Amino acid sequence: MGQVQNKIAIVTGGASGIGAACARTLAREGAKVVVSDIDDLGGNALVATINSAGHQAIFLSHDVTDERRWQDVVAETERHFGRLDILVSNAGIGLLAPSIVDMSLADWRRQTAVNLDGVFLSVKYCLPVMRRSGGGSIIMTSSVAGLRGSGTLAGYCATKGGVRLFAKSIAMECASKGDGIRVNSVHPGIIDTPIWNKIRPDLSSGGRNAPIDIEGMARLGAPLGRAGQPQDIANGVLFLASDAASYITGAELVIDGGITGGSISRSGPLAGGATRE
Ligand SMILES: NC(=O)c1ccc[n+]([C@@H]2O[C@H](COP(=O)([O-])OP(=O)(O)OC[C@H]3O[C@@H](n4cnc5c(N)ncnc54)[C@H](O)[C@@H]3O)[C@@H](O)[C@H]2O)c1
Repeated sequence: MGQVQNKIAIVTGGASGIGAACARTLAREGAKVVVSDIDDLGGNALVATINSAGHQAIFLSHDVTDERRWQDVVAETERHFGRLDILVSNAGIGLLAPSIVDMSLADWRRQTAVNLDGVFLSVKYCLPVMRRSGGGSIIMTSSVAGLRGSGTLAGYCATKGGVRLFAKSIAMECASKGDGIRVNSVHPGIIDTPIWNKIRPDLSSGGRNAPIDIEGMARLGAPLGRAGQPQDIANGVLFLASDAASYITGAELVIDGGITGGSISRSGPLAGGATRE
């Protein structure tokens, strides 16, 4: 028996990075997974891998900002699998701005449309079918950027902070209705995924130059001294999706190598003998 045996799951932004790891992990643990993404090539390749490993997944081409398409995706999921137990509302983009005054309203709206409108629509259209299914688990991908500020990611932080409290609010709605649906957020730190290659806006003055050194950033910024892997987040999502988390709702699961836990010194008198290069 897998940890989510026979449950039906939708994973948005499931073609890449954290979403792909969630889709693979839920499928490995017995769920039938709907992978939704705008990346048709990546999504189809992923479901082919999942199915060839003897698990079950389908891909649906889906822009999470498209309300009409959400109705199709939920209907298609119900037609194909008959119910919905798990929603991983994960699709997201990050746009970096050296200063908030450099951010165009179009970029602000684009980021908010995917990261917040997309999560709102996911809940609006998935909750009714989950209620008809008798309960379930919703996991929203926020970020450490939903817990603390960042000087160059203000717009992103605004969306991820919004997701954090949206999750808690929907958790309260579901608890008050007694519908058996739990709602939680996950908060990844620095995770090695393609998002970091896409994070800069198209500024005409050198918006895209050297690639971001994720490992270097994590070595300095994460107390565990390394970047996380998508599987680290998928492990947490699997737990929240499973019945092992049946008393957990309205909570935030931080998976960040210690970033929000505090700070450590790598050298000097406060290093505690743990000096590292
Ligand atoms: N990687 C990190 O360090 C990190 C840290 C904190 C939070 N997150 C969050 O994790 C989530 C997953 O990010 P990732 O790191 O795996 O990035 P990723 O770029 O590898 O994956 C994101 C996926 O979302 C899809 N997507 C983008 N816009 C979409 C839209 N409008 N509709 C449907 N799909 C869309 C992309 O095609 C892609 O497959 C995001 O919400 C991100 O903000 C990532």
